[in-house]
Amino acid sequence: MKADLLVHNIGVLITPPDVTHPIRGKAMDKIIEIENAYLAVKDGRFLAHGKGQGKAFIDERTRVVDAGGKLVTPGLVDSHTHVVHGGSREFEFEQKMRGVPYLDILKSGGGIHASVKMTREMQDDVLYAQSKKSLDKMLAFGVTTVEGKSGYGLERDTEIKQLTVQKQLDENHPVDIVSTFLGAHALPKAYEGNRDVFLDAIIAILPEVKEKSLAEFVDIFCEDGAFSVEESRRMLEAAQAQGFKLKIHADEVVALGGTPLAAELGAYSADHLMAIDDDGLRALATHDTIANVLPSTSFNLRSEYAPVRTMIERNLAVAISSDYNPGSSPSENYQFALNLAAIHLRLSPNEILTAATHNAAWSIDRADRVGRIAPGLQADFVIFDAPNWPYVLYHFAINHTQDVYKNGRLVIQNQQPIWEGTNHETD
Ligand code: NIG
Ligand code: FE
Repeated sequence: MKADLLVHNIGVLITPPDVTHPIRGKAMDKIIEIENAYLAVKDGRFLAHGKGQGKAFIDERTRVVDAGGKLVTPGLVDSHTHVVHGGSREFEFEQKMRGVPYLDILKSGGGIHASVKMTREMQDDVLYAQSKKSLDKMLAFGVTTVEGKSGYGLERDTEIKQLTVQKQLDENHPVDIVSTFLGAHALPKAYEGNRDVFLDAIIAILPEVKEKSLAEFVDIFCEDGAFSVEESRRMLEAAQAQGFKLKIHADEVVALGGTPLAAELGAYSADHLMAIDDDGLRALATHDTIANVLPSTSFNLRSEYAPVRTMIERNLAVAISSDYNPGSSPSENYQFALNLAAIHLRLSPNEILTAATHNAAWSIDRADRVGRIAPGLQADFVIFDAPNWPYVLYHFAINHTQDVYKNGRLVIQNQQPIWEGTNHETD
């Protein structure tokens, strides 16, 4: 079969190996590396790749691209973001820099509550425009699939508004968005003393979310000052009974037991895990729930980093995400999260690639479509203006992408979006 697109003169092509399970522990350090490689694409999917020029895949209709000896990776997967939200919180930044803890700001009515107010007040089209701008940035950083959560409404109308905007973006923007309902992100002040009434109200939104296909996952913030393990169980079991897949924000500040709960319920991921304890480590070692770590959040909160070396020793499967949100991680720069994974989590370049592609795809149930360069998978890939992958991690806080391809289509060229105006079709 001939290719529609043939990329040749690739200095080095890297990808996680062909596996149909999360990659755990030591195996995270093993990737496939092909020097002087080609990559063939047909109908938006990978057709073949290997050493050499790939001449066998070329005919007169094939578009041939010279990668100039540079690095090619699978499209990156950012599997935990809060990309759709109204406004920003720079007014809290000074307070935070003076050392006021994240949970204290939340308790005093700021933090998530401040973003809830802004998101509630924002018109749909303004919310769409703000979120689109973020997705443009993410794509330019080489991210071709993201997960995005609601959770800045905490009531029906705004939660549905956030998810609807997110769905429209998924349809109109090259980045694929996997959607998560996070109605239980914080307890509104009005419900203090009436926690069950709030949870009932959030659970009551689920059928509409399902019916309108607005989210595939349900998540909850299981934390001191947010929701208890019992409340998390109630929320997640209700969601599971309605056919939602599960995620949890757990062990960000305190290990309450949210991580073992996630494993028990078969959640796809437990996220944050800076304060994970032995029970949590044991639970994730024996289940397919991915340990999704968010180093940009640790950086921004000046808090602990998740104990990822221990996780790998204990045979966990780890993913890395940006957690892009207006409070604890106000940056769309996924490559920076990967820099931090090298510097602070002490992951090897190979482990980071696994965590940023295949395992991240697993945590959002997309490993059958994205996260690797393998025949039949979506032709999402990045040409980095770098000689090798360690260089991208070492030369930090810089965008190293050159070109980004989504479903075999060039969408970012020399770091600039080229999909708009020329071609409005969705993927
Ligand atoms: O993942 N921890 C809870 N939720 C977000 C922060 C949201 C915010 O501060 O607006 C997080 O860090
Ligand atoms: Fe988060």
